[in-house]
Amino acid sequence: MQAIDALLARRSARALTDPAPDAAALDLIFSAAARAPDHGRLRPWRFLVVRGAARERLGAVLADHLRRMHPQIGEESLQRERLKAFRAPLIVAVAAHCDGAAKIPVIEQTLAAGAAAHAMMLAAFALGFNAMWKTGDAAYDAAVRQALGFGPGDAIVGFLYFGTEGPERAPAVRSEWRDRVRELPPV
Ligand SMILES: Cc1cc2nc3c(=O)[nH]c(=O)nc-3n(C[C@H](O)[C@H](O)[C@H](O)COP(=O)(O)O)c2cc1C
Repeated sequence: MQAIDALLARRSARALTDPAPDAAALDLIFSAAARAPDHGRLRPWRFLVVRGAARERLGAVLADHLRRMHPQIGEESLQRERLKAFRAPLIVAVAAHCDGAAKIPVIEQTLAAGAAAHAMMLAAFALGFNAMWKTGDAAYDAAVRQALGFGPGDAIVGFLYFGTEGPERAPAVRSEWRDRVRELPPV
């Protein structure tokens, strides 16, 4: 697939099943991430791969978070939360590992991690897989970060769900952009 085709056609998958990107595809996906624009060459991204039975552990972390936020919540809601980790065969949590002492502003380091996440989604799409970028309150919770082994200064920018899109593919919506563009006139 041409890069321009992937850029213009990518859309998120609502339902993802096996097969997930295999080792070779995942290698390419991470290689694409590592080519994201990165001011200062800080490589301010960290990745946590969650697949197979380990998804139960992620589900438990998400459910614990929900219970902490809503102590009265029922078992049915907690179970729904646990099952979120099974929405796709492979999940990669992407975090920005920002160095506050670096010359490069923290926002630029965070943006670099976001750009890496987008590159991963595009790489997966170009390889015939699909993905969905999710966050939710759990992504911004310190206890969740710690339970997943991220450092206190890390910021989860997304949980990327990877797999193969089912037969009910969402139509690619042509995104309007003209109303968001201005051109600075000369003086
Ligand atoms: C940082 C970020 C966080 C997101 N978090 C969520 C989320 O938690 N839940 C959700 O349904 N969509 C979330 N989205 C949006 C979807 O990933 C997706 O982009 C959106 O539904 C539009 O679909 P499309 O990518 O096919 O245009 C997030 C997107 C970004 C960039």
